[in-house]
Amino acid sequence: MEKGNDFAQRLVLWQKQFGRHGLPWHSRDPYRVWLSEIMLQQTQVSTVLNYYPRFVTAFPDVYALAAADEDEVLGLWQGLGYYSRARNLHKAAKQVVNEFGGEFPRDRLHLQMLCGVGRSTAAAIAAFCFNARESILDGNVKRVLCRVFALDGNLNAKSFEQLLWQTAESLLPQEGKDMPAYIQGLMDLGATICKRSKPVCTACPMGDICLARAQDRIALLPRKKTQVAVKDMPMYWLVMRDQSGSIFLSKRPANGIWGGLWCVPCADSLTALYELAALFDLPADDLNADGEFLHRLTHRQLHIFPYHAQMSVSLHRNLQGISGEWVSPQHLADYGIPKPLHNYLNHFQGLLF
Ligand code: ADE
Repeated sequence: MEKGNDFAQRLVLWQKQFGRHGLPWHSRDPYRVWLSEIMLQQTQVSTVLNYYPRFVTAFPDVYALAAADEDEVLGLWQGLGYYSRARNLHKAAKQVVNEFGGEFPRDRLHLQMLCGVGRSTAAAIAAFCFNARESILDGNVKRVLCRVFALDGNLNAKSFEQLLWQTAESLLPQEGKDMPAYIQGLMDLGATICKRSKPVCTACPMGDICLARAQDRIALLPRKKTQVAVKDMPMYWLVMRDQSGSIFLSKRPANGIWGGLWCVPCADSLTALYELAALFDLPADDLNADGEFLHRLTHRQLHIFPYHAQMSVSLHRNLQGISGEWVSPQHLADYGIPKPLHNYLNHFQGLLF
């Protein structure tokens, strides 16, 4: 039997018997599949299971999402991280409504025109919903291919990425009707069997054709990526509370860390924090250091220093051109707030929301 067919047939049969079934986004509805794929891009299934149902309840279809306020979308996304996904999601919903008449495109290339939808996500939607013969290629699939076909290359190199796409395309099932189980099988195999550490090779449908296994190179493939350095970055927070207990929050610019979320004013040095405080007529003496903690982002390690200030009513009125809102504790839950600020307000300021 030809290599590609053999791989595909094994995977489809295995998925039907041993793969994951009954996840809430298993559907032929491109809105639901698209939404889940965006959530699952950088987030584990167990986490997405907590967010996805709330999201589809709030926005049952693409029209509801397109008509929503961006802050409402970011609020429901709060805690999932990588907030550009939420902003792109909202933009893409508007694209579907305004440019595609409310219907998701059915082929990969048109799906890739949507904000935040790359080749792999577009392929997943096209395959799951429309039986398109397109392959996905995420980190899990790369690992499976590198092992089964003993491909030893640099995962950061464009040329190796191309080879992986070609390999993935050469393996597709002949029949479109097998595509949903095939794509789900690729995902399931990488997540449950061909795991990064402690893969369960004895339960793998590719066990007897896997070259890495035959060559005893499972632990060596895929080749480790060269690590990108994680930069340390200090961040000073000006946590102002007025006499009624409200907190001052401003909406962060769309680009950069926590784009579009609501946060306390931030500075990158203590001097800059004092300058920021001066805009609110707060002298340095009124700022109280309130511990420090680390928060890891993808390429940065934030070193956060919250400074707390109790405002008097007169200072409260003088915002000196910094736009923002005083948010009372009971309304905090309505704002999309970065996770570390949410935790800080909960645990250190006792504002459970
Ligand atoms: N990861 C990305 N897409 C997925 C899906 N549809 N099911 C499970 N894990 C996934």
